[in-house]
Amino acid sequence: MRSLLYSTVTIPTTSKLPNCYSPHSLKLPFLNFLHPSKYPILLNSDPRVKSHKRLITKASMASQESNTEANSQQTKPFSVLFVCLGNICRSPAAEGVFTDLVKKRGLDSKFKIDSAGTINYHEGNEADPRMRAAAKRRGIAITSISRPIRPSDFKDFDLILAMDEQNKADILGALERWIHRETLPADAPEKVRLMCSYCKKHDETEVPDPYYGGAQGFEKVLDLLEDACDSLLESIVAEKKI
Ligand code: 4NP
Repeated sequence: MRSLLYSTVTIPTTSKLPNCYSPHSLKLPFLNFLHPSKYPILLNSDPRVKSHKRLITKASMASQESNTEANSQQTKPFSVLFVCLGNICRSPAAEGVFTDLVKKRGLDSKFKIDSAGTINYHEGNEADPRMRAAAKRRGIAITSISRPIRPSDFKDFDLILAMDEQNKADILGALERWIHRETLPADAPEKVRLMCSYCKKHDETEVPDPYYGGAQGFEKVLDLLEDACDSLLESIVAEKKI
């Protein structure tokens, strides 16, 4: 039995039969497939098995590493950044509407959601009280604090959604400047899209700036954002991005 486990089988030659006390060893290569981990006694006693053990250990470590990589790919949240001019009206509302939708579907852990402005004028400020009040009437909380868009956003987010054409041009303009001084993903420009490109129930191509207008403007912003966010989530799910 011990000989078998060494992948070497002792077969008594006819000349020695029936006396088997002085066996001759014959190597049977097929027995090399025996998994040495099943025979711990052998692992420390035979150099061939030792090297086999090293190979298996390396292989299983590599397999564990690739599993970890696959898992982290699977668990990495899909990230969306909403952008407007001041980051106090439209993009904070978009962030609030999309966050609310994702939470209602129980998908919170699968998303990273944020918002930013193309200017830093309101940096550190809460969202406009008119926008927060309009959203609250629809049961949506807006909690963001204004911040300007930054170069790392092009690395940290999968999708950057501009509220209007000017915002989109400003985001791409900033990218043009930043790309010369730091390494940013090659697909960064394709990450930038118009929010209304997701609208299904509305024909508008932009989310209009409500800042200088009346209460109606804030309601219109929310109507458009609810429509766009619904389809946005649908498309992310359909494209199996989460
Ligand atoms: P937002 O609205 O871009 O939707 O946040 C605006 C906020 C502030 C100004 C303009 C628009 N502003 O001129 O200060």
